[in-house]
Amino acid sequence: MTVRTSGSIPVRIEQDVVVARQAVRKLAQDCGMRLIDQTKLVTAVSELARNTVVYGGGGDMDWDILDEGPRSGIRLTFRDEGPGIADVKLALTDGWTSGSGLGLGLTGAKRLVDEFELDSTLGLGTRISITKWS
Ligand SMILES: Nc1ncnc2c1ncn2[C@@H]1O[C@H](COP(=O)(O)OP(=O)(O)OP(=O)(O)O)[C@@H](O)[C@H]1O
Ligand SMILES: [Mg+2]
Repeated sequence: MTVRTSGSIPVRIEQDVVVARQAVRKLAQDCGMRLIDQTKLVTAVSELARNTVVYGGGGDMDWDILDEGPRSGIRLTFRDEGPGIADVKLALTDGWTSGSGLGLGLTGAKRLVDEFELDSTLGLGTRISITKWS
């Protein structure tokens, strides 16, 4: 697997969620991803970027275009230096929220992508990496 191109965009305020969505839509189009998969990926971005703003206190989204044999993919890493997630297993349960959400963001995002990795340390922050192959 090789990284073709990379970049990073800030995810600090609600408006950045829109910018992240638009950036990923463009990357997915450039990658030749089919429309249904573009939409799945962009939906996951909405959820993860919103969590970064709301719970993480803001952070960044790193993006990589990947090549592996004949396939290409997009890897996105959302990272923040917020409070972290105390119980990752609980956070990945449908319907569990610490706030006033529906508790469907993380589980929904996980289902929409091919790879999903969550690392979080209390007091240090959260890092969620997702990959979708075209
Ligand atoms: N970046 C983060 N930093 C700290 N806690 C987080 C982060 N992302 C998610 N969480 C925690 O995980 C819980 C579940 O997140 P999830 O996105 O599934 O649901 P929600 O944001 O509460 O509601 P929804 O996304 O459905 O509106 C959150 O309520 C929050 O406690
Ligand atoms: Mg959420």
